[in-house]
Amino acid sequence: MAEKSVNSLSEDEARAELAELAQKIGAANKAYHTEDAPEISDAEYDRLKRRNAAIEAQFPALKRADSPSEQVGGAPAEGFAKVRHRVRMLSLANAFDDDDILEFDASIRRFLGLTAEAPLAYTAEPKIDGLSLSLRYEDGVLTQAATRGDGAEGENVTANARTIHDIPETLKGAPRILEVRGEVYMSHEDFAALNERQAARGAKTFANPRNAAAGSLRQLDSTITRDRPLRFFAYSWGELSEPLADTQMAAIERLNTLGFQTNPLTVRCEGPQEMLAHYARIEEQRATLGYDIDGVVYKVDALELQRRLGFRSTTPRWAIAHKFPAELAWTRLESIDIQVGRTGALSPVARLTPVTVGGVVVSNATLHNEDYIAGRDSNGNPIRDGKDIRVGDWVQVYRAGDVIPKVADVDLSKRPDDAQPYDFPTTCPECGSDAIREEGDAVRRCTGGLICPAQAVEKLKHFVSRAAFDIEGLGAKQVEQFYRDGWIREPADIFTLRDRFGQGLQQLRNREGWGEKSAENLFAAIDERRRIPLGRLIFALGIRHVGENASNLFARSYGTWEAFEEAVTAAGAQEGAAWDNLLAIDGVGTVMAQSLVSAFAQEAERASIDRLVHYLDVQPAERPQTDGSPVAGKTVVFTGTLERMTRAEAKARAEALGAKVSGSVSAKTDIVVAGPGAGSKEKKARELGLEVLDEDAWLALIGA
Ligand code: IVH
Repeated sequence: MAEKSVNSLSEDEARAELAELAQKIGAANKAYHTEDAPEISDAEYDRLKRRNAAIEAQFPALKRADSPSEQVGGAPAEGFAKVRHRVRMLSLANAFDDDDILEFDASIRRFLGLTAEAPLAYTAEPKIDGLSLSLRYEDGVLTQAATRGDGAEGENVTANARTIHDIPETLKGAPRILEVRGEVYMSHEDFAALNERQAARGAKTFANPRNAAAGSLRQLDSTITRDRPLRFFAYSWGELSEPLADTQMAAIERLNTLGFQTNPLTVRCEGPQEMLAHYARIEEQRATLGYDIDGVVYKVDALELQRRLGFRSTTPRWAIAHKFPAELAWTRLESIDIQVGRTGALSPVARLTPVTVGGVVVSNATLHNEDYIAGRDSNGNPIRDGKDIRVGDWVQVYRAGDVIPKVADVDLSKRPDDAQPYDFPTTCPECGSDAIREEGDAVRRCTGGLICPAQAVEKLKHFVSRAAFDIEGLGAKQVEQFYRDGWIREPADIFTLRDRFGQGLQQLRNREGWGEKSAENLFAAIDERRRIPLGRLIFALGIRHVGENASNLFARSYGTWEAFEEAVTAAGAQEGAAWDNLLAIDGVGTVMAQSLVSAFAQEAERASIDRLVHYLDVQPAERPQTDGSPVAGKTVVFTGTLERMTRAEAKARAEALGAKVSGSVSAKTDIVVAGPGAGSKEKKARELGLEVLDEDAWLALIGA
């Protein structure tokens, strides 16, 4: 019987099938492991596991307590099931010097309307260089552990988390629902011992403790994780059935009492001066802590203030990471390669004599663009005192956290006599088309468009990348291979691969080692992604200036692909109402809007997008927290003085309720909130017959 596609299962069908699968897989495991007498083929076993994982990914809530995806030691697992975080896992904004911290404090005061003298406390604690993990406890029992993933959806690593000594299985006196968040890490000592063991066995060694921790936590076989000494510090939380405390500090102490390790260097500070003093103390102890940290995290202490401050798109307003200075090393620049990116940008890459920078071997680093090599910024002003960079030079390499290493400086005293200024290419090294620099653009770009193989491949790689379509088994390497062989030339081709593959299977198998099974796995993974959230689709298109945040912004603003497409097409003239509407989205500037509408106006590009969308089931964007919101989708203008909160807080609250906040009044405005001293905007609103509210009426409307 033909199997129903996972997308079209009802909840009841999914539940029933999961039960059946648990039974079948359980029986197969028993036959194979305990009785040593397999009853079904490996291929059939894999198919059952895959089907189970796919249904669980689609219906996370239906996942069974005895889910086969949790059981290890069976046939090789098929990757981790996905977990949707009930409360998003965020990252942190970064600060690099004292001034950034003073500005952080000042911006919080501005937002909350506090004077410089008003008391405002923070916590300060080390930023652990590991990977974050969310642990869910229900009635005091650990039920799920998930990695951060993209913040919205992570990987289910429960079986592995259970092997970590610092993670309690049960808690006494905890809230009924408690999600504890923190960092998994490996100590220096354990890292060194692990690498020794690995080397002795001829297995792969790890570059640093962070990689070792990540590699160990993400083992499909939890018996391997068990042998890797991982640790855990708790520093935050997700869903809670009741608050842990009133302050960050007390909440951390509560987590400690419940049985979690919390970092002993966590303190409460009365303001920026104390925070910076604690930063200095932590930096001093850094080398002797026995584990890697890469900065200090400050958080507003009062949880009520955290709530009011809320979030930007991916980071809280109430916390910041004060990073330690980057690590440096000197080495020789052996050559400069030019890479062509998906938007045609020619990026110079330094090939270096390998050198260790902060524990990691670096042999490539970015040189940014031609001006950077020549020793000037994009306005023509000198950088590095105007020193250019030449092949053969002795250069300083710099690495900060996870970012790509950079060439920062050059030592002219060591320059070889025959070193020549670098001649930046004016044609594309990949397709030979002219590479031009447009007025105001810092980078030179290949004009070949989709005829440039490098651009086409990079676009495809972006398309399948983690924040975009994230197709399991179709990574950068496979995309290159498929492109080279002519199987995939544009994103739409991915979704017709199965149909075309049948005819060419023999040919492909002979050359590339794709068997029926691996191909079937790939097709299943592709099918999983036909259903795609709108924000991911927009991001996947790889339009210049339209990043992940902006894509989600568009998705939330327009809701559906049809509405988005119609709006962008209508804005094509770059003037008029449709264009103004696009620019009215908070966070969308002219450059981004121009890039977006011109991509949709280009015939070849548009046709390629249309072909793609034809194969997809685009999920409308979720509009979180705005269910039943009286102002969802409305355009609001604040004018005059607000007395109950600052403009910034009012705007953030309105946006959290799904409203668009605009700076100017037009016929498109729905509500004008006018405080004392409101002038021309209020007048205009009244002339236009718009709804004008005072602050109290507005607060009553939003139920605050
Ligand atoms: S708080 C909503 N505290 O740093 C606040 N994060 O760069 C969430 N990290 O994703 C994070 N030590 O993985 C926090 N003491 C600490 C941390 C910490 C390490 C990691 C965490 C986060 C990343 C952001």
